[in-house]
Amino acid sequence: MPSIKKIKGFADLFPEDAAVFTRMENTAREIFSRYGFGELRTPILEKTELFIKSIGEDTDVVGKEMFTFPDRKGRSMTMRPEATAGVVRAFVESGRYQPGKVLKYFTTGPMFRYERPQKGRQRQFHQLNAEIFGAPEPQADAELILMLKSFLNELGLTKLTFELNSLGCHDCRPAYRQALIDFYQSKGRDGFCEDCQRRMDTNPLRVLDCKSASCKELVQGAPEITDHLCGECSDHFAQVKDILGTAGVEYVLNPRLVRGLDYYIRTAFEVTSNDIGSQTAVAGGGRYDGLPKSLGGPDCASTGFACGMERLAMLLGAKDGDAPDFYIAVIDDRAANDAMLFAQKLREKGQRGEVSYAGGSMKSRMRAANKTGASKCFILGEAEFAEGTVTVKDMAGDDEQYTVSREEYLKKV
Ligand code: HAM
Repeated sequence: MPSIKKIKGFADLFPEDAAVFTRMENTAREIFSRYGFGELRTPILEKTELFIKSIGEDTDVVGKEMFTFPDRKGRSMTMRPEATAGVVRAFVESGRYQPGKVLKYFTTGPMFRYERPQKGRQRQFHQLNAEIFGAPEPQADAELILMLKSFLNELGLTKLTFELNSLGCHDCRPAYRQALIDFYQSKGRDGFCEDCQRRMDTNPLRVLDCKSASCKELVQGAPEITDHLCGECSDHFAQVKDILGTAGVEYVLNPRLVRGLDYYIRTAFEVTSNDIGSQTAVAGGGRYDGLPKSLGGPDCASTGFACGMERLAMLLGAKDGDAPDFYIAVIDDRAANDAMLFAQKLREKGQRGEVSYAGGSMKSRMRAANKTGASKCFILGEAEFAEGTVTVKDMAGDDEQYTVSREEYLKKV
């Protein structure tokens, strides 16, 4: 019978890879807590309408990429394609918001998008998210970008590009949308790819970041959003840039950065890398002030970002575990139980290590001990079994060894 294989686009993380994810999560917890973020864990499964209402019906994520299915009662459910919608749902539902109060949450976990799997693109992937509610000020956007930079720097990732744009607001974007539609029409609709011909009516900004060569060519010279911002959006954006500039964050302005989710207004940003193939974005985010209200909640400003952990892991590389403290080499089968008990006592005293379950030749056991990289090897052979002793071999130093009563040894650990 053929063995059961994992689902396409889903991955197993073995210890050397899982260790990199743990490191990212621990670093995020440490850095994000300096900025006042608390962890929020939301469900993986949500009602489909949550994502349609928040991400937008005409986005690729909602239109083509969701894992959606009816539950046993026929209600449409979706495996979250991103965290923001669920975080906003939880925040609104909890009733925790009060005017004037700022709330900061981070969240981490798996997300699901039915995309074509390729390097840096999975159907199950992991994100680290941070969201701020109740702060319309440009300082909140700048703070998020500064926090993201600190987090990435702490991981040792410094060769990344910060791309920045403003997407305007509900007041100034309609005129920009129209200017774009007029521009596309002047170029002739037929030259654009099929997706963009549709997007022109539903989501003209998305045409700007289409990857197709013909669309890229046609949007050259398209009007830029930053020339169409209203006074308030312009001031807001100027302040974000000012803080980042003063704080020494190097960024590039990218007027074509539109983001793939519909809820953004004003600040939008992405962090990209040239070292991980064609999927270059390792993080992305921006402001989404209208979302809590559109989900039945308060009219509350909101801004946030998410990092793609698989893409960051590609930059960090796999990590071998830290070397253990000990390895117990059982040479005489009869000593196997004593060895397990000795290991248990060492572990209860905080030491990390392994024990060979049964006896074996000294040569094969020493080879195994060396392989683990343990700093000490405890040998339990015939004499040690009979006398209640253990032979201690110093693997890190000069291979010195001595025999001592097990009980005495444990007293000194
Ligand atoms: P996003 O740009 O769709 O934003 O995703 C954020 C990051 O998740 C991307 O930059 C990328 O690193 C990673 N990512 C996305 N799709 C995949 C995939 N199929 N495979 C591997 N990695 C992927 C959001 O999701 C927004 N919720 C971010 C946000 C938070 N905006 C405000 N708050």
